[in-house]
Amino acid sequence: MARARPGRDAGGVEHELKAPTLLPEEPEVIVRGRGCRVWDDRGRELIDYRCALGPVTLGYADPTVDAAIRTQLDDGILFGHPHPLETTTAELFCALVPGAEAARFLKTGGEALAAVIRIARAHTGRDRVVQIGYNGWLNSLAAGARVLPGATSDAVPGVPAALAALHHAVDWEDRSALDRLFLTRGSEIAVILVAADYPSIPEAADFYRYLRDLADRHGTLLAYDEMVTGFRVAIGGMAEATGVLPDLAVFGKGIANGMPLSVYSGRREVLGVLDRGDVVVTSTYGGETLSLAAATATMTAIRDRDVIARLHTTGTRLQIGMNELFARGGSGLRLVGHPACPQFVGSDAEIRTFLRASFRQGLSFYRVVYVNAAHAAADIDETLRRVERVVQETAA
Ligand SMILES: Cc1ncc(COP(=O)(O)O)c(C=O)c1O
Repeated sequence: MARARPGRDAGGVEHELKAPTLLPEEPEVIVRGRGCRVWDDRGRELIDYRCALGPVTLGYADPTVDAAIRTQLDDGILFGHPHPLETTTAELFCALVPGAEAARFLKTGGEALAAVIRIARAHTGRDRVVQIGYNGWLNSLAAGARVLPGATSDAVPGVPAALAALHHAVDWEDRSALDRLFLTRGSEIAVILVAADYPSIPEAADFYRYLRDLADRHGTLLAYDEMVTGFRVAIGGMAEATGVLPDLAVFGKGIANGMPLSVYSGRREVLGVLDRGDVVVTSTYGGETLSLAAATATMTAIRDRDVIARLHTTGTRLQIGMNELFARGGSGLRLVGHPACPQFVGSDAEIRTFLRASFRQGLSFYRVVYVNAAHAAADIDETLRRVERVVQETAA
């Protein structure tokens, strides 16, 4: 039977950044995962640092999460009335995340960010939105925004010019651009939406304090995109890591170990616009119970198994070990940023050469390196032995 080849040209891939571009070393498809390892359709086993580009925090096929999904499956997936899991999962989330007084569920980050923008506009009566960092495909609303984590575009095809003009893309830490924008447009800006720049996370607190102050001085709301940072850098993401609370936030990747679920949360008074009747955010699948059961099991495990500390320890061991190997081997690459989601820094050609050679050695890296709770010390040691070979091979 003919099979669609994964790749941008042929379709068969739902995410631009998952499309294999380093064939034949890179797996064309992944058919199975367990713990920190994945297998392709040719039976090749790889130690995985992609974690589905973030969501798999506990490990593939985590027994507790999978049991919760199976148990719920016996009772049904989705109903025409609310299910108790909608309330209990939201309560657990709000108990764990600083600044989350209320929470509601959708499926993807893009949807939840769209909800936050709508809510912020309705709450403030203002139209303009400032976007800092990568927010998934919803970035493509603003000229100059990051259309993919490493790529910006000045054109916004498919977005009416009048709408694009209301979205302002600003670079991380570009305080002078923000000051200028707020000087002229401050009273028109509904919300500053910020996603952390991964390499800068360890020093981000001062920028968040600046954003909080800027927003407060202009009656603007502050919203955090915690899609990657939530339940990874800290349970409560950058809000917990910096101690600076937002008015609204979006979470997703870390909370359900791979099941599709996003959360928009924040101050009850702000989210209260949804009770007015004229601002509606609603989705058939928001209350889908398998994902909510997975989220309850995942968040509980992250809390009770000390997963955040584990990700830090494992990630630090990997990051330090790899940087030592890069330095010793004369490689220009470095792994920079928070140990739970550090990013390769180096030339594009160097990164691609390293990723290709790593695939050959049975290591699946992505430009952001995601560890999960199933990476044991022995897996990191095995990874470092393989990275040593990669560095030797690519230096030669
Ligand atoms: C920081 C950040 N925000 C938002 C998104 C978009 O989430 P989704 O792909 O679920 O729409 C992503 C996806 O990679 C992301 O990394």
